[in-house]
Amino acid sequence: MTNFKMNIDKLRKPLLGKEATVKRKKNCITQCLRNWISNRFFPRRINWKISILAVLILITLIYYYRLSQFDLKYINYSFHRSTRPTPNIRCSRLNGPRLPQNHDHKTDARLRSDPKVLVFVETMYSKLGKDIAELLVHTRIKYKIEVVGKSVPVLTSLDKGKYGVIVFEDLNKYLQMDKWNRELLDKYCREYFVGIIGFINPSEETLVGAELKGFPIFIHTNIQLKDAALNAASQILRLTRPGGTMWGTLPGDDWTIFQANHSTYEPLEWAHKIDDYGHEGLMKTPLTTIVQDHGLFDNIQRVIFGSGLKFWLHRLLFLDSLSYLSHGQLSLSLERKFLIDIDDIFVGDKGTRIKPEDVSAMLSTQRRIQNMVPGFKFNLGFSGKYYQHGNPDEDKGDDLILENIDEFRWFSHMWNHQQPHLYDNLTQLIDDMNLNKNFAEEKGIPFDSGYSVSPHHSGVYPAHELLYTAWKNVWNIRVTSTEEYPHLRPARLRRGFIHRNIMVLPRQTCGLFTHTIYIDKYPGGRDKLDESIQGGELFQTIVYNPINIFMTHMSNYGNDRLALYTFESVIKFVQCWTNIRLSSDTPLQIAENYFKLYPEETDPIWGNPCDDPKHQKIWSKNKSCDSLPKFLVIGPQKTGTTALYTFLSIHPSIASNLPSTETFEEIQFFNANNYYKGLDWYMDFFPVDVNSSHYMFEKSATYFDGDLVPKRVHALLPHTKLVTILISPAKRAYSWYQHIKAHGDTIANNYSFHQVITAGDTAPKPLRELRNRCLNPGKYSQHLERWLTYFPPQQLHIIDGEILKSNPIEIMDELQKFLKITPQFNYTGHLRYDEMKKFYCQVLNGERTKCLGKSKGRHYPPMEEKSLKLLQRYFLSHNTALVKLLKRIGMRNVPQWLQDDLTDSPT
Ligand code: A3P
Repeated sequence: MTNFKMNIDKLRKPLLGKEATVKRKKNCITQCLRNWISNRFFPRRINWKISILAVLILITLIYYYRLSQFDLKYINYSFHRSTRPTPNIRCSRLNGPRLPQNHDHKTDARLRSDPKVLVFVETMYSKLGKDIAELLVHTRIKYKIEVVGKSVPVLTSLDKGKYGVIVFEDLNKYLQMDKWNRELLDKYCREYFVGIIGFINPSEETLVGAELKGFPIFIHTNIQLKDAALNAASQILRLTRPGGTMWGTLPGDDWTIFQANHSTYEPLEWAHKIDDYGHEGLMKTPLTTIVQDHGLFDNIQRVIFGSGLKFWLHRLLFLDSLSYLSHGQLSLSLERKFLIDIDDIFVGDKGTRIKPEDVSAMLSTQRRIQNMVPGFKFNLGFSGKYYQHGNPDEDKGDDLILENIDEFRWFSHMWNHQQPHLYDNLTQLIDDMNLNKNFAEEKGIPFDSGYSVSPHHSGVYPAHELLYTAWKNVWNIRVTSTEEYPHLRPARLRRGFIHRNIMVLPRQTCGLFTHTIYIDKYPGGRDKLDESIQGGELFQTIVYNPINIFMTHMSNYGNDRLALYTFESVIKFVQCWTNIRLSSDTPLQIAENYFKLYPEETDPIWGNPCDDPKHQKIWSKNKSCDSLPKFLVIGPQKTGTTALYTFLSIHPSIASNLPSTETFEEIQFFNANNYYKGLDWYMDFFPVDVNSSHYMFEKSATYFDGDLVPKRVHALLPHTKLVTILISPAKRAYSWYQHIKAHGDTIANNYSFHQVITAGDTAPKPLRELRNRCLNPGKYSQHLERWLTYFPPQQLHIIDGEILKSNPIEIMDELQKFLKITPQFNYTGHLRYDEMKKFYCQVLNGERTKCLGKSKGRHYPPMEEKSLKLLQRYFLSHNTALVKLLKRIGMRNVPQWLQDDLTDSPT
């Protein structure tokens, strides 16, 4: 080996002079070292042993490496710990002065218009327009979108402005507006003190010093910028805390900057050109990127953005501009409630659980957060079954948590972390919950918080009634939270509801899941997490939502302690850049606050679990969407709905729901208090085995005129077909009166029909109520319009109630065509006119007929002429609107009764 080496050396070119001497010395040192190492450590006679050892070491390393990849259970990753991130938000302003409490932009001018934004967009699909709409949805600010170019929408209602601020996705479209519309809009802004926000859209052409048409201000476009800073003196800043600089390159290379020489203009934000250094490294004068127009030029206040909403800071400044320009009408509250749940306490695989030092870290981080968020305590959800299931060190971690019980808030989780929708047996569910309760009692864990969550949101929504019952029974639960109502995505649409007295709060996502435990494994890397914290998704979630409940997991507090890093960082960032005041409270208190803030959310809206794969996963296997009707007969009452129901029930492939003990053939789910009994209750009327070969339907005549019904039906049965029957509204009113009278109603028996329909607003309440029930359902056009805002006309079938009486066979044939039921059932031999009853009845055994009971097709005196005339006049406008509606939705023949009512109506 040595000889071979020497030969090679000989082949090499000889080096000359000093260079050669140095090189030779180096070679000598290297060679001597090699020889020494090889003699010292690798004598030839043991070389083979070394080789075996090396192979063994290699195998061991590969084995552990593979384990680390596929099975985290048994390895303690001490090497990961070196990557553990620590919060590094540096903010000189953290202890600086904060905004005075009363700084809310409020002036009396706000009373001139409604708290709503009018947004002009280029098209319904333009990116910035969508961003603006999403931001407004997230912050629950009301808005109307209008495509620019058409005429300006109606801007006033009575003596009030309909919009508090006008936004132009592309300011150019405002500047280029035709004279008429522009004058209209400007006049509105001046008269109602309404301001305008405009964005300069990126253009292909680079403009240098171009004048904004008609204004003493000039723009330069397509610039790349860095280091955004705020004008601390700007009156607009409210949510945004002034004084900071966001160092670094700003997103996009198409920014516009402004230059003005009129005192009406004041910068709101500045930045520097990307290569903006003068002599000796000094920065040049900053460039204005957002400018405020005080209205000194033309009496209209504006804020103009030189870039869209890609840069997070612009989102805050947009919200502040809305607040300022609407004189405080569109101001978000600065208060934010903040709760961090730690799910899975005691749950987790060996090697991923928390250790004593992690518990200490939790406690010290909690103390630091408490200084920034008064009332803050981590909220711990425990599953007792897995207590002491870690390695020895982790078991000590469990004990240290219990030694510090009083330092935390606590809530019950499932004993075995089992998903409640998997239980179909209430006793079993209650027994399992009791095991966790016994554990809590034994360990001294408080269990009176009234709060609980469920693994993977199971059972909360879609609601599994057994869970609600068991929660009440065992823990007296009053509050829970979920990400699933109405759906996981988009997060900005998550809402709360109350079901069976349990308040369900929307829960927000923070990006940490059970398996997000190491920073180097964070999806998208650490930069992604930092981006979310520093102005991105997590930061914005806190800015937009007055109440934030985040779910984390025990594993996020061990390992790289990502939850501690994330929350301490984001809280600091919020404090650094906003005037938001974070605080925390008990879940019960937070829930009460929530529903005070959003009382309209109290009532749930039951959606269809089969429309969302995530919902289906957390829905009992015993439940099926086949247990829902395919069409609904919606009424209105007294138009022949029972007759239609009976005829449908004769059909061999159509079946109705099981009868209700209270309302007989009608379930009356969508219109009344039954809705609060939940979806399980409704579905129990449609057992799967019965309806498997049937076309299921439900008839509740009260649905037609129920305010909330179309919305609720659409949420659950968006593809359902709707069947309605219409007769003369005057006749319908009279039939209702006779029906009520026959039922012994004292008002109907004490007042004539004419007295009822002419009762004034000062009449006794029961009389007014009867009047309303006679008149209101007959305003057909109003009610149908409401249905048609949720359903397309193709899903609606209108039956002429007079033809139903005179020729039900024709009606049933048409209905079957509409429902696309094949083969068609021939009703000819099944319905026959009954001379006694004076109506069509069902034929039994080819001979006898079975007619509807006494209460249908009653004999009563005809309506007085004066009442008929009065009602025809009363319903004139509604009937006229109905004709238009019927034509609009393609109904070819206007019913005879409608034509008669219109022609006979006294003018
Ligand atoms: P009257 O009893 O005032 O005549 P509903 O079932 O929606 O309450 O409607 C009852 C009305 O259905 C009856 O009102 C009757 O006029 C009408 N109807 C239509 N076809 C019928 C039938 N085949 N048998 C009995 N009533 C029928």
